[in-house]
Amino acid sequence: MKSFENSYEKLDGKIDMLLIHWPHPDKYLEGYRALEKLKEEKVVREIGVANFEIKHLEHLKNNANIKPFLNQIEAHPKFAQNELRRYLEKEGILLQSWSPTARGVYNDDEIVKQIAKKHNVTATQVLLNWHITRGYHPIPKSATPKHILENIQSTKFNLSEDDIIKLNSLDSGLRLGYHPELFPYEK
Ligand SMILES: NC(=O)c1ccc[n+]([C@@H]2O[C@H](COP(=O)([O-])OP(=O)(O)OC[C@H]3O[C@@H](n4cnc5c(N)ncnc54)[C@H](OP(=O)(O)O)[C@@H]3O)[C@@H](O)[C@H]2O)c1
Repeated sequence: MKSFENSYEKLDGKIDMLLIHWPHPDKYLEGYRALEKLKEEKVVREIGVANFEIKHLEHLKNNANIKPFLNQIEAHPKFAQNELRRYLEKEGILLQSWSPTARGVYNDDEIVKQIAKKHNVTATQVLLNWHITRGYHPIPKSATPKHILENIQSTKFNLSEDDIIKLNSLDSGLRLGYHPELFPYEK
């Protein structure tokens, strides 16, 4: 609640979406209940979670009242999150992908470069289009105006089935961030 109050003040009392950042094993249910209260009081529009695995979401399903609007997780072609994707789809929870371009990991990837050349777009646009085609909601971060524009325009072409198959073949479990069970909360 302290963290919420801090953000509420900084955002002039307008919060569209409030998330729990990581599923701390002893605290996430209590934290989520606080979020539910804020949603019930209409202080925030939607509530959700981040970095939750299926077991955390099942626990919420059995112990909380409001379904999370979305789960914000690391996802990109080399870490496609297929199992979690299927679960979220079944439960009607949106998948929001963080580090959707894996912070430049794909810059030299031949498959991505080839597809980008074919469509006359950039590698980042290919990656963002892959997310959208899969029904993911990517949140690329950029402080460069040219990149921001480029990212917005990544919906303006269609990847072919063959492109998608090639991009899906990159899935190798490459996780850039912490595993949710191993996050160093003590640090
Ligand atoms: N929930 C969580 O635990 C969690 C964890 C990590 C990140 N996140 C969030 O996810 C968001 C994105 O993640 P991220 O920043 O790690 O990864 P990202 O968006 O995949 O990568 C950001 C990097 O890509 C560059 N970039 C963006 N668009 C580009 C373009 N069109 N061409 C070339 N380079 C481009 C940016 O540089 P420029 O600024 O120069 O464009 C920046 O260095 C952030 O807002 C972050 O807060 C959440």
